[in-house]
Amino acid sequence: MIYSRIEGTGRYLPERIMTNADLEKMVDTSDEWIRTRTGVERRHIAGDDETTSDLCVKAAQAAMDAAGVTADDVDLIVIGTTTPDLIFPNIATLVQHRLGIKPCPAFSIEAACTGFIYALSTADKFMKAGETECALVIGAEVISKLVDWTDRSTCVLFGDGAGAAIVKPADEPGIVSSHLGADGQYKELLYYPVGASKDLAKAGVGDSKILMKGNEVFKVAVKTLGNVAAQTLEESGIDKSELDWLIPHQANMRIIQATAKRLGLSMEKVILTVQDHGNTSAASVPMALDVAIRDGRIKRGQLLLLEAFGGGFTWGSILMRY
Ligand code: COA
Repeated sequence: MIYSRIEGTGRYLPERIMTNADLEKMVDTSDEWIRTRTGVERRHIAGDDETTSDLCVKAAQAAMDAAGVTADDVDLIVIGTTTPDLIFPNIATLVQHRLGIKPCPAFSIEAACTGFIYALSTADKFMKAGETECALVIGAEVISKLVDWTDRSTCVLFGDGAGAAIVKPADEPGIVSSHLGADGQYKELLYYPVGASKDLAKAGVGDSKILMKGNEVFKVAVKTLGNVAAQTLEESGIDKSELDWLIPHQANMRIIQATAKRLGLSMEKVILTVQDHGNTSAASVPMALDVAIRDGRIKRGQLLLLEAFGGGFTWGSILMRY
């Protein structure tokens, strides 16, 4: 049996930082409201000309350096994103070309905030099928360009960034198991109303924005994340006491706290970046992973639970040894 293992990670955050104080000048909100309801203190925002592939290339290079691989080694690229540069060609091909990676399968997966979990699970399946020896997996988002900066109910939540991982074969896990799910009945609770085949030509600046029923998203997120985490541990025969770290999607501090509570995990075992990054959608889990690997908290051999939840709804978890 071939398993897959993360050999190196990287991240890139745009240089511009927007604090809660900056937002106070833009909409009717307060630092106190944002901190207590969401846990967010600041977020990074891409420059006007900066695209998601720009962020991907920098995060990928950092992951390749950390793993000790070069562009010649990579033979699969999977990118989770909802904010690709173009409608086509897909963003993985843009990243492939810019990094000088040879012809290989390169595609993106659109699963909103669960994008990286879907992408990593897909790369793991390619590995188990013997179809890759070195996969570049990225979660990246420039969601600030979809945000309506006059809508206080959503603009305070989000940020931009990219997180990447190099995945290679191993004789033992690595990735122990992954669980993916989706339920399209919840579309109305969180969506963006314009797309390639719907109203794109009609849309003008300000016509489209992220539409969200925050309260209802919150409730389904807490329930679903608790369920998928519990299911993952149960089906893998792992007791929660064996977990070293929970690396949750960084949507909201209160959702993270509620998930940790349902799992009976102390917050000391939870990697938190929401205060510094905001909700970076598909980029949030790989960036949190990279932060904690680079600062030395996550060590080789430790057992990690990655989980995410996003528009659709989609959700997923990955149990892995680093
Ligand atoms: N600043 C100040 N007040 C704000 C505000 C802001 N940025 N945004 C909303 N409010 C106001 C509302 O207008 C409302 O006022 P009212 O009582 O006078 O009507 C009040 O705050 C409460 O709004 P509500 O939406 O009930 O707040 P909440 O406690 O549910 O918090 C969210 C809002 C968005 C932080 C919360 O619902 C949430 O995090 N939901 C999950 C969202 C999410 O994670 N989405 C991504 C999933 S991947």
